Amino acid sequence: MPQYQVEKVERKEAPVLSTSSNLSQALQYQRGQKKIFEDFQLVKKIGQGAISKVYHSRHQYTGINYAIKSIRKDRIILNEMFDCAWYEKQIMESLNHPFLMKLEGFFNEQAHIYFLMPYYPLGNLRQQLKYNGNFPEQVVRLMAAQMILAISHLHERGIVYRDLKPENILVGNDGYLVLADFGVSVPQKPGEMLHDIVGTHDYMAPELIKRVPYSYEVDWWALGILIYELLVSVTPFESRSLEITSTNIVSSKLKWPVQYHGQPFRLSETAKDLIRSLLKKDLQSRLGTKNGGQEILQHEFFRGIDKNRLLKRELLVEWMPMRAQEYEQQDIDLGESIVGNREQLLIHQYRQQFSYFSK
Ligand SMILES: Nc1ncnc2c1ncn2[C@@H]1O[C@H](COP(=O)(O)OP(=O)(O)OP(=O)(O)O)[C@@H](O)[C@H]1O
Ligand SMILES: [Mg+2]
Repeated sequence: MPQYQVEKVERKEAPVLSTSSNLSQALQYQRGQKKIFEDFQLVKKIGQGAISKVYHSRHQYTGINYAIKSIRKDRIILNEMFDCAWYEKQIMESLNHPFLMKLEGFFNEQAHIYFLMPYYPLGNLRQQLKYNGNFPEQVVRLMAAQMILAISHLHERGIVYRDLKPENILVGNDGYLVLADFGVSVPQKPGEMLHDIVGTHDYMAPELIKRVPYSYEVDWWALGILIYELLVSVTPFESRSLEITSTNIVSSKLKWPVQYHGQPFRLSETAKDLIRSLLKKDLQSRLGTKNGGQEILQHEFFRGIDKNRLLKRELLVEWMPMRAQEYEQQDIDLGESIVGNREQLLIHQYRQQFSYFSK
């Protein structure tokens, strides 16, 4: 008869949840250093995208505030956005930069994936633009410089961001900015170009509109649109229809407003020159094409900015962000997060693919 050696399994004591000191010990026992999704309470909805929802949430034992971006797995499958979600996680995990959003945790739950991030209670730059209308040049200088450093950091890592716009820029209490939402960002393989048409129409470069292969330069075009918008309060090529906007992007000349709210309004020649250089329809002559963010920061508009002090947040930003009200009243949309039987079946069929998110 074969002899089997029985492997001894060490039994750990189950936590006792009777007294408060036991309770805290028990919780430490249960959680260790790892974050567990059930420990986060959803406080309110603060954002909504095509297939995602963002919630202000709180860790119930530490009281620390976070933002949680939730994406339903069935929506990922039906919209064929598996790659987007995968890259969003991979990219965020790999980042460590003062002006780029950090991933604090990731949860691969039954019907959703969740991105855990630091919470920015002042919301995004679109909400701030609504209060301010537009920003003075000395404020936009530092905002743009931060975004140049953020995007350069991505480009140096082979990532094209592809969705630069005020909604994706979050505002810290100190007025410094953080670029978030890597939902359409993608790593570009050396020697290859990108082909898929993604982004937000008003910010799309002519090469995207014309559907020709494109690369990193689309982000510098979007930067030009962003700087114009922050200074003028509207984007330069927007119109009442997507078709007209497309035509404007590809062939219209830039127009400069001469009035703002009935008052005479003029941008400095330096600001105009920077915007013109970024919004070159021919990408060979676009600022940033030859030498990336470095080249852009050398423009006269940014003269005197000490990059290292900016990175350390030591420069005075000269503006005071306001608390965003837009989503304050919104309740948590629980109905939305209930996933029906059919959807659960679909998710089950794709469980193998989603299991990669936990590795
Ligand atoms: N960490 C955060 N703190 C505070 N608010 C946030 C945070 N992350 C996102 N938000 C809010 O939620 C909104 C939507 O977030 P995000 O841009 O990441 O998702 P999305 O637009 O749905 O993404 P996608 O375009 O991939 O569907 C943001 O515009 C912002 O207002
Ligand atoms: Mg977004």
